[in-house]
Amino acid sequence: MQKIIAGNWKMNGSQALAEALASGVASFCARSGVKGEVILCPPSILLTTVGKRLQGSFVALGGQDVSAQESGAYTGDISALMLKEAGCRYTIIGHSERRQLHAETDAQVAAKAQASLKQGLKPIICVGETLSEREAGRANAVVASQLAGSVPAGTKAGDFVLAYEPVWAIGSGKVPSGADIADMHAHIKSLVTGANVLYGGSVKADNAREIMRIAGVDGVLVGGASLVLDEFCGIIAASEE
Ligand code: PGA
Repeated sequence: MQKIIAGNWKMNGSQALAEALASGVASFCARSGVKGEVILCPPSILLTTVGKRLQGSFVALGGQDVSAQESGAYTGDISALMLKEAGCRYTIIGHSERRQLHAETDAQVAAKAQASLKQGLKPIICVGETLSEREAGRANAVVASQLAGSVPAGTKAGDFVLAYEPVWAIGSGKVPSGADIADMHAHIKSLVTGANVLYGGSVKADNAREIMRIAGVDGVLVGGASLVLDEFCGIIAASEE
């Protein structure tokens, strides 16, 4: 199966960086004949800029979050229709930074996933344990409970993508062992049959190949390294090998 490589820029970038990164990724993918699914998720104010640079390329655009509501008095929020009109095909939902810093619950994550699906956007639903949960031997239980609450009822595995992102591996330079990643991906796939499961957390060009060779890893969700053109292109290249 072709891998899925998603870049989550988080609250980083500028118009100039967005133009440079998007053009660079699009031309790298065209030049190297990449077959996997490559997705860029810039801050929403940069979606149009990135979208323009991706025109004519198969690189997809995604939002980093979405409102569960269709429209109305929700200051600061962005609807799935707005993301779709901006050219998005994906939304990242339930990232641990949203869960922790914005107190998002599993139920809200599921509602955001539903709102995305209604507009034909594919949600990338994130789950993952904290370090203390892992150390307490609760990683599998925590992820099972997040999945049970966050995957909307009545959907089938092809409607969404899952991302396993251990909170302690995000932005830390720490990556779980290959055995731990394989175990968790097998656990997730046993609970959500047929789902594509990405790994996220300190993925770089120099560990991407090894991570994507682990059984059950269908691609990667990349934060920091997606902001550096050579790093991100290195990760895309690793996915093709
Ligand atoms: P990181 O972030 O690659 O910077 O660790 C991953 C993520 O939060 O998706």
